[in-house]
Parts: sequence; C-alpha cells; structure tokens
Amino acid sequence: MRFAGKRAVVTGGASGIGRATVDRLVSEGAEVWIGDIDEGAANDMVATSNGRIHFRRTDVTDAEAIRALIEEADAAGGLDILFNNAGAGGAREPIGEVAPEDWDRTQALLLRSVAMGIRYAAPLMTARGGGAIVNTSSVSALGTGYAPTAYSTAKAGVLHLTKLAAADLARHNIRVNAVVPGFIMTNIFTRHLEVPEDKRAQANGMIAHVAADSQPIRRAGRPEDIAAAVAYLASDDAAFVTGTSILVDGGLTIGTRGSWDPAAPSLFSALEAFQ
Ligand SMILES: NC(=O)c1ccc[n+]([C@@H]2O[C@H](COP(=O)([O-])OP(=O)(O)OC[C@H]3O[C@@H](n4cnc5c(N)ncnc54)[C@H](O)[C@@H]3O)[C@@H](O)[C@H]2O)c1
Repeated sequence: MRFAGKRAVVTGGASGIGRATVDRLVSEGAEVWIGDIDEGAANDMVATSNGRIHFRRTDVTDAEAIRALIEEADAAGGLDILFNNAGAGGAREPIGEVAPEDWDRTQALLLRSVAMGIRYAAPLMTARGGGAIVNTSSVSALGTGYAPTAYSTAKAGVLHLTKLAAADLARHNIRVNAVVPGFIMTNIFTRHLEVPEDKRAQANGMIAHVAADSQPIRRAGRPEDIAAAVAYLASDDAAFVTGTSILVDGGLTIGTRGSWDPAAPSLFSALEAFQ
C-alpha cells in the first residue's frame, strides 16, 4: 500500500498503459483522477471503483483542460503524483512529406502536454512540500525505426524535458522521471484504423505476433509491465531517483538481432563458417 492516502492524476488513463497504471495505483491505496477523451471507457472504470477513481474529460492538447484536471485533484486534498501519459501515433508521414500543422498537432499531443502537466502541477506540489511526476517516453526516443518521425521527436523531447524539470524542481522536493516502453500490446496501433471490428482483431493479432518476435524476451510487452515501473518511480522507493528514465522493453534496444537470435544473420555466425 505505497500510495495509501495519496492522490494521483493519470492522463490517458482510460486504456492501455494508463489504465494499468490507474489500477496499480488504486490497488496500492491511491485515489486517482483520469484525464482522457474516451468518456465511455473512463466512466466504466469510475463506476466499478468504489469512489477511488474519478474522471474529468481532458484533451491534453488543451493546456487549460490540463490545468483544470490537476486543480480538481489537488482541491480534493493535495496532488501527490502526476503521470503524463496520454498519447497516440500522431503524424505518420516521413519528414519529406509531413504537413506543418500535423507536426504541430503531434508535438502538442505528446510533448507540450507533458510540459503543461508539469507546468500546472509544479506550483501546487511545491506549496504542499513535494510530489512525484512520471512521463511516458518511448524507445522511439532512442533510435530510428520504432515509430514515425514526429512522434519519435516528441518522445525524445519528453526525455530531455524530464531532466530539465527534475533539475528545476528538486529544490521543491518534486521528483521527475520517465518510463521508456518498448513494444507494448495496447490499442495504440489500431486505434486510428477505420475498419470493421473483425479486421481490427486481425490487425491486433498480427501486431501481437510481431511484438512477440521483436526482442530477446519473446512475448509482447504488457501494460502491467510499464505500470510496475511507473509505480516504482512514483513511490517513496524511488525517493533518491530523479531526472532519469527506466527502459522497459524486453531487451528490444540491447543491440543487433544477431546478438540474441541464433537464427538471425550476424557477422560472427558468418565468420564461424570459416573456422
Ligand atoms: N504501446 C506501446 O507500444 C507504446 C510504446 C512506447 C510509448 N507508448 C506511449 O504510451 C502512452 C500510452 O499509450 P498506450 O499504448 O497505452 O495507448 P492506448 O491507445 O491504449 O491509450 C492511450 C490513451 O490516451 C488517450 N488519449 C489519446 N489522445 C488524447 C488526448 N488528446 N487527450 C487525452 N487523452 C488522449 C486515449 O483515449 C487512450 O485512453 C502514449 O504516450 C504512447 O505514446 C506506447
């Protein structure tokens, strides 16, 4: 019960990583405010939570909506934890084709939202003596080939913002860290597809197969894998941890495939033929 008596805000809490984190925080004693645009899913969570989960419709591209969400949670007794997590794939075009307004929308969704979450939580957490902030980045912040360019650039920004905010806010006893998920099975991959449900299920099955085959740990990542890391960073177990990130990727970014998959071509296996 690391979060008994604590209040948390989770953006994107109605699905996937955010939802698993809401469940984890509540299971350890927290009261949680979800900020999301999916009213149906969030209201279902509220209805079965015995008053532990609250929902305020919040589009995180709207800074005033973020402010209102954070103020609502704080007014209930003080905000202890903020998880800046809401997101979607954003502009998918390569850099030679992306439209300026799509680029801006993606940055507003994935990077400015995190900055404004910190912006509005910081004074309130300062006033009550501290708090813990966790931001969702991505392996796409670390290299190419994981996600579209606009998304990956925003997620890299989240990592650097995490360090800058941690440096700024340590004097107020506010810790700021990030979680860096690998390939996690959630709705994010198929949410934008306008296809019948059976086609969506087919796409999710294909993605699960690819995810399980993508890294040394041969299964798709689960939202709960990320929630466990977020809960650690948000808890007093991480009291001396700030300005850093936890990579939870099943080894996806360890190195070349040939280093962990005996079936994949590698320089060393090629040379073995000559020994
Ligand atoms: N799934 C992965 O493999 C993966 C990997 C790395 C990072 N991430 C990041 O994890 C975070 C959570 O994604 P997920 O995989 O759980 O996806 P998801 O689609 O299951 O959940 C995302 C949630 O964010 C909400 N959301 C989307 N746009 C919003 C907006 N404008 N305002 C408020 N809420 C909004 C959605 O309604 C949904 O509830 C995102 O930031 C995503 O970029 C996911």
